[in-house]
Amino acid sequence: MRDVTAETLTKTFLDYCGPETSPRLRFLLEQLAGHLHAFVMDTGLTHAEWRKAIEILTKAGEITDDERNEFVLLSDVLGVSSLVDMVNTKAEATSSSVLGPFHILGAPDLAYGGDLKRDNDGATLVVKGVVRDTEGNPVSGAAIELWQTADNGLYSNLDPKQDRYNLRARLTSVENGEYGLTTIRPAPYTVPDDGPVGELLHATGRHPWRPSHLHFIITAPGYHSLVTEVFPSDDPYLDEDAVFGVRGDLIMEYVERTDPGFVPEEYEARDKLTNPYYSVDFDFVLAVDDGA
Ligand code: BEZ
Ligand code: FE
Repeated sequence: MRDVTAETLTKTFLDYCGPETSPRLRFLLEQLAGHLHAFVMDTGLTHAEWRKAIEILTKAGEITDDERNEFVLLSDVLGVSSLVDMVNTKAEATSSSVLGPFHILGAPDLAYGGDLKRDNDGATLVVKGVVRDTEGNPVSGAAIELWQTADNGLYSNLDPKQDRYNLRARLTSVENGEYGLTTIRPAPYTVPDDGPVGELLHATGRHPWRPSHLHFIITAPGYHSLVTEVFPSDDPYLDEDAVFGVRGDLIMEYVERTDPGFVPEEYEARDKLTNPYYSVDFDFVLAVDDGA
């Protein structure tokens, strides 16, 4: 095609895709190119604006390394990561929500009722609940990875004062689907805003705060894996999460307690509780993996 015009460009682009292009890739490219081309046309994008966009992506590449991925952060603050979560949440299952960049593999096992707080500062939090399927049946033997910030708002891998696996654990749901542990209340924190994504936030008057949350990955044979996070109802940033991760079904209620009798005897930290402590009851619902 020699005489490409604004009107024929998307079709010309698609015609360049050879027969080896899978139907799904062809469809995705058709949609992507179509939307990008329409964006340029509809906005009357200038050369200066396009150069600025390329400059942001170039800086994102420069700042990205093994510990920090600015492209993921860009996707997060644009709402794309959350939209992918929403599109892929299974009907009737707990909503999925951003994985974030601070998950690390290899967290140690923690037995039912184990203590993750240890010598961390912060209010003690008893977290317990049940893993169920969409019919309400308990799911035992589910692997539950949990990670969170310390009282200073930092994840262990961003804070040289914390052990690598501080406030990270891998639990297993017991026979009746229950899981339980003691930890601390997580703290709100800011997404990194010292790079090009921060520049974008500042240019639009946006703050970089996320409401406090507990991250979870729940896996069980025969079920869709669930990557999610759970937020306390009283967090000041609940309605203005910088990465749009909050969903109605992911909100937990802290209950202030002074009664040690609330904590089951098997809990490791039962005799060390200081008052007041807090508890939260949060159930997870997994969807059967039917291959879809
Ligand atoms: C987090 O939840 O840890 C997170 C998510 C998105 C961007 C930055 C941090
Ligand atoms: Fe987080």
